[in-house]
Amino acid sequence: MSPHLRDPRPQSTSLDVDVQRTTVRVRLLRAGEGAAAVAIAAGAAVPGLVEGGALQAALDLSGGRIEFPGLPGCAGWCFGAHAGDRLVGVVYVCTPVDFVLSHHGEQRAWLARSVAEIEILAVEEGFRGSGAGTALLDHAERYLGDQGVRVFVAKVDAGDMPVMRWYRHRGYRLADIGESCILDTPSGATSINAGQAHERQWRLAIKAPGHAVVRGLRGLHLTPDTLP
Ligand SMILES: CC(C)(COP(=O)(O)OP(=O)(O)OC[C@H]1O[C@@H](n2cnc3c(N)ncnc32)[C@H](O)[C@@H]1OP(=O)(O)O)[C@@H](O)C(=O)NCCC(=O)NCCS
Repeated sequence: MSPHLRDPRPQSTSLDVDVQRTTVRVRLLRAGEGAAAVAIAAGAAVPGLVEGGALQAALDLSGGRIEFPGLPGCAGWCFGAHAGDRLVGVVYVCTPVDFVLSHHGEQRAWLARSVAEIEILAVEEGFRGSGAGTALLDHAERYLGDQGVRVFVAKVDAGDMPVMRWYRHRGYRLADIGESCILDTPSGATSINAGQAHERQWRLAIKAPGHAVVRGLRGLHLTPDTLP
């Protein structure tokens, strides 16, 4: 955790961090904050995001905890970093739906509970480099960890060295382009990779708190072999 964080553990409903002599508070978004959240992500050129689209509507309606209709066990969470009343950063973490739906039965249910993908992470330009992004990621990991998430993944643009370094410094392992990470589930092994989207090459960033991510002959895997 970054040294300037004031950690309110054990209550993990919000996290305060001092950014540029301003206290920034990280908490789950409230209903009505969708447009501001999506505007920050759009301002950071997060790919595949539509202003006024489905995510914005869902956040405006429900706040930061989103259910996916027709997809039991799948959900999304959006946390905001607020300087006073102003939203200055967002992280949106959700079930990796396509990956989860490519599995069946118990394994699908286990993966839906246990794996979360950081889909959007963006901080307003004037607030970057002072700990807001770290606080957002830290709070999301802790909050979702308390809910049973064991593995966090993000798909990082393979050409974006600063963002890859940023994730590495926060405990994530970067797969090579096209490389998968094996996940041992109670119903057998499976593997996850970054795939391809938006005509760019992606690398998988992966972290499983309490486990190392190591490279073996068949790609990355977590140690020990069986998740608790
Ligand atoms: C990536 C991002 C979310 C990080 O948020 P942040 O608030 O700038 O990050 P923090 O201040 O917590 O992290 C400090 C780190 O950023 C580096 N940094 C400093 N100034 C920076 C700047 N203007 N932009 C990016 N990183 C910067 C610091 O060197 C420090 O590095 P280290 O601790 O890893 O050695 C933010 O830069 C951003 O919104 N980028 C554009 C969108 C994006 O690329 N998102 C990620 C992929 S979805």
